[in-house]
Amino acid sequence: MSGAPRLIRVADTAALAEAAAAAILQTAQAAVKAHGRFTIALAGGATPALTYARLAQPPFVTAMPWDRSWIFFGDERMVPADHPESNYRMADERLLAKVPLAPDHVFRMRGEGEDSETAATEYGKALGETCAARRAGVPRLDLVLLGVGVDGHTASLFPGSPAVREIFRPVAAVHAAAAAVPERLTMTLPVINAAARVFVLVSGGEKSKVVKSVLVEKKLVPAGMVSPEDGELWWFVDEAAAALLPR
Ligand code: 6PG
Repeated sequence: MSGAPRLIRVADTAALAEAAAAAILQTAQAAVKAHGRFTIALAGGATPALTYARLAQPPFVTAMPWDRSWIFFGDERMVPADHPESNYRMADERLLAKVPLAPDHVFRMRGEGEDSETAATEYGKALGETCAARRAGVPRLDLVLLGVGVDGHTASLFPGSPAVREIFRPVAAVHAAAAAVPERLTMTLPVINAAARVFVLVSGGEKSKVVKSVLVEKKLVPAGMVSPEDGELWWFVDEAAAALLPR
């Protein structure tokens, strides 16, 4: 990775959403200037959701290069797109339905089927076909957004899951027994770590221990294995989640 993680420490969840939205805009504008398009993978969870809602408001909503943006998902639950647990539905309600994105610029992981392995293979193919940039033959997204669970999971890469060790497939089907919706699809670490930038969004006191374990103790939980080989890693942390970090 190009250097240590950049820590953006902010007061609260609203400040985190503001800072993350501003950084997404800057990344998008730089990507379009550099190579004519912006590719981003969205995360699920309540923390990323606040950032999406902020991005759908001025000044970001009018400044974003939506016509040159392609939207992917870092993970999805194996549920229909209109299911309350769907990451797509969460992002659509807060952002995608509110901005001028061409439908063929949004690549939803198809969680509605029965066959998660096929869905994973098909999504990996679509990602490879659409994401022009490559790093060592792996699709290189301009930006991957991630949240972190208290157990150190990120995307749907859970501790002990074989998907954490996946080195070939860009997208894997997982069975996360501990998760509310166990059957999932997830981008794997090769794709995440091929990105030009990765933003990890973490808020709340319940995350303080996992933030310390990753950023201070360097524990190799899945969130601790996110380390772009030729890119930047930014951690956006509110004060509650940063409580155990040195000042
Ligand atoms: C998912 C997410 C997951 C999420 C973290 C953090 O599909 O559940 O991809 O990795 O980002 O669990 O979620 P919160 O921000 O809600 O704590």
